[in-house]
Amino acid sequence: MLAIKINNLIKKFDDNTVLKDISLEVENGKIVSIIGPSGSGKSTLLRCIANLEKITAGDIEIYGHPLVIKGKYVSHKKQRELTNDMNMVFQSFNLFPHYSALDNIVRPQMLVEGKTRENAVEVAVKLLERVNLYHRKDAYPSQLSGGESQRVAIARSLARSPKMILFDEPTSALDPEMVTEVLEVIRGLKDEGMTLVIVTHEMNFAREISDRVIFMADGKIVEDGTPQELFENTKNKRAADFIKKIL
Ligand SMILES: Nc1ncnc2c1ncn2[C@@H]1O[C@H](COP(=O)(O)OP(=O)(O)O)[C@@H](O)[C@H]1O
Ligand SMILES: [Mg+2]
Repeated sequence: MLAIKINNLIKKFDDNTVLKDISLEVENGKIVSIIGPSGSGKSTLLRCIANLEKITAGDIEIYGHPLVIKGKYVSHKKQRELTNDMNMVFQSFNLFPHYSALDNIVRPQMLVEGKTRENAVEVAVKLLERVNLYHRKDAYPSQLSGGESQRVAIARSLARSPKMILFDEPTSALDPEMVTEVLEVIRGLKDEGMTLVIVTHEMNFAREISDRVIFMADGKIVEDGTPQELFENTKNKRAADFIKKIL
């Protein structure tokens, strides 16, 4: 089963075409990493999949259900149903600064899903344990390290039991010693069979965790293959130069 199916996606910001005829399929339970230079459209592609950005032309299907067909979106109600199953984690964590780590996970469940505080706390405690941060439950974002903040953000994104998480450079804002703890949590999600699309500059991680790696440049998918194909038998010269520079 396909988690994501994209046909001939075009995304313009005014006159600037930033995604140029993107077609992409992601199978359920697979891990796809997206690499490529800054400005190539990686974040915009994730935001289009998460329906945080509207596409100009093309189709997107989520778990077999159309979100947009030939540039025309389904009803708002259907859009919400489709995006319920996915979540996005950002480079900048986006935690609520005035809530504790626990409340960052509790409050959205109460507000969005209408859960009681008791039920929401029960879920939040389990999730904090899962990312090894139960002992930091009362800390505020300003008191958390970058790695801890990102793990809280991941825990928060898990509260609605998504089938799919889209990560946009989840470790780019972190000091090197904190990268591993976040990558460990992401690795755990893979083991649970979640579908993950990860924009990352961590080439070794991408190589090790991914079922497929995609190289984007100038709004296009330039190369798409297994980690071995992409990293060891790179066909495209730009992809080869990029990988060499980063590794
Ligand atoms: N909200 C926006 N309005 C106008 N242009 C944008 C917007 N978001 C991104 N862009 C442009 O789209 C292009 C791709 O950006 P982005 O998707 O952020 O690339 P990447 O994540 O690969 O660095 C860039 O040229 C960027 O300036
Ligand atoms: Mg980006």
